[in-house]
Amino acid sequence: MNILLTAAEVFPFAKTGGLGDVCGSLPKEWEKLGHNVIVVMPKYANIDTAKFNIQPTDIVVPVPMDYWTEYTRLWRGTLPGSNVPVFFLENAEYYGRLGIYGDPEGFWDNDRRFIFLCRAVFEVASVLDFTPDVVMANDWHTAFTMPMLRIRYRFTERFARTAGVFAIHNMAFQGHMDPRRALPMAGFTMSEFYKGSWFESYGVVNSMQVALWFADKIVTVSPRYASEIRYTSAGYGLQSIVDARGSDFLGILNGIDENEWNPETDPRIYGNYSRENLDGKMFNKYAFLKSFGVTDEEMQEDMPIIGMVTRLTDQKGIPLVEQALERILSNYPVRFTILGSGGERYEKFFRYIGAKYGHRALVTIGYNDDLAHKIEAASDIFLMPSLFEPCGLNQMYSLKYGTVPVVRAVGGLADTVREYNYSTGEGNGFVFYDYDTTDMGWALHRAISGYFDKPNWIRIAKNGMAENNSAVQSAERYLEVFRWAKEKIRY
Ligand code: ADP
Ligand code: GLC
Repeated sequence: MNILLTAAEVFPFAKTGGLGDVCGSLPKEWEKLGHNVIVVMPKYANIDTAKFNIQPTDIVVPVPMDYWTEYTRLWRGTLPGSNVPVFFLENAEYYGRLGIYGDPEGFWDNDRRFIFLCRAVFEVASVLDFTPDVVMANDWHTAFTMPMLRIRYRFTERFARTAGVFAIHNMAFQGHMDPRRALPMAGFTMSEFYKGSWFESYGVVNSMQVALWFADKIVTVSPRYASEIRYTSAGYGLQSIVDARGSDFLGILNGIDENEWNPETDPRIYGNYSRENLDGKMFNKYAFLKSFGVTDEEMQEDMPIIGMVTRLTDQKGIPLVEQALERILSNYPVRFTILGSGGERYEKFFRYIGAKYGHRALVTIGYNDDLAHKIEAASDIFLMPSLFEPCGLNQMYSLKYGTVPVVRAVGGLADTVREYNYSTGEGNGFVFYDYDTTDMGWALHRAISGYFDKPNWIRIAKNGMAENNSAVQSAERYLEVFRWAKEKIRY
């Protein structure tokens, strides 16, 4: 199959969260399974072209926008560890600035930056003479590819048999746009915007909604999240539309890229280890604590490390941590470490905790790929108390690294983590249900007590390490969906 994937984030070139991880790993797996894959994404100013050997080509692609035409030079790179070509769109005006989205508020012209990406996808495919069987788009940024395909490009020879598959990674961001700007730029007209039309939602354009109506098949990133956004307020107002598309909609659990995340081979951690040799994990803990200046005397006391690597936002349950952390640090012999960035209030809070608790609370504010791996390897317990979590990758990384997850049972967390059962020896972590500090506190209590019960603790960790959450399986399931989508548009 010829597959074209487009997204705002693709690891290792550009990433703020799991969207990048998933869009960086699926194409490699599809290629290994014998498919022809290309990736199209913006050439953001932050992308390290020298490091990844991304070269300019002499291909300049005209991209129609509204009544004018814009141009983009293609740069070409390859997804590391594969031969998958990645085409980067050069456009100084849109992507020449620092940042992917311009967080926290978002760049004022994100509508235009991403509609340009969507239109360019088809024009680039044409210029490259690539005829996709499937265009797979991800989240609101690339959502407009779906109506463009369905209403416009499918009536051209090249895309007549191209199916559109849309993946929802996070329903909380829907891409609201002013119709007077967005529709003409995307190649539609205001006459298509009226109450109840595909494009209209509470007086504005809702990109996510548009993709939901026009995609041939819709996927979200875990089975549990699929029911949550269809039947509960986790759909952020789009439940009824997800439900209306129910027969074309399903959840596929994300997988992890084991070339990047595997304690046996990971070059970013202090020492490699495996399920059979967990001593190596102890060494990571030791070296990690050393790197923060924790002395050997301090390390005499055996304390579990509770780790977090996260965007500091409400989605991730940071308010619960904010309320409970000092109590936990006072009541239990534990250390806490966090790597994160995001909300200013939360950054301040964790800086304060870091300053107050010294070597008991090791705080790093910022974004750091290497440190994320080191924390996974060094921590004993990994905390994810999310308010909602479409899939979550860190709990799967934790399982793989023998770091016991403590999670709230939502979305992909509920699909991947099971409470340890002391009588049967089954389960791979600790789970709580209510979004409050009492329930989270009890789950942490169970985990911390578990840590001091070594035979059981080793069992929990090993159960986690034996899980198979690799991206290979999710890649295969996507291919199945691609075949259904192709079947659907056969006429
Ligand atoms: P989300 O996409 O909602 O942020 P996921 O759990 O799916 O959540 O993915 C988060 C990804 O981003 C993981 O690969 C995680 O390691 C990474 N990550 C999050 N915050 C940071 C940070 N501050 N530094 C480095 N990596 C981070
Ligand atoms: C989103 C979600 C996260 C998911 C990731 C990859 O960022 O918040 O839960 O794992 O996308 O699909």
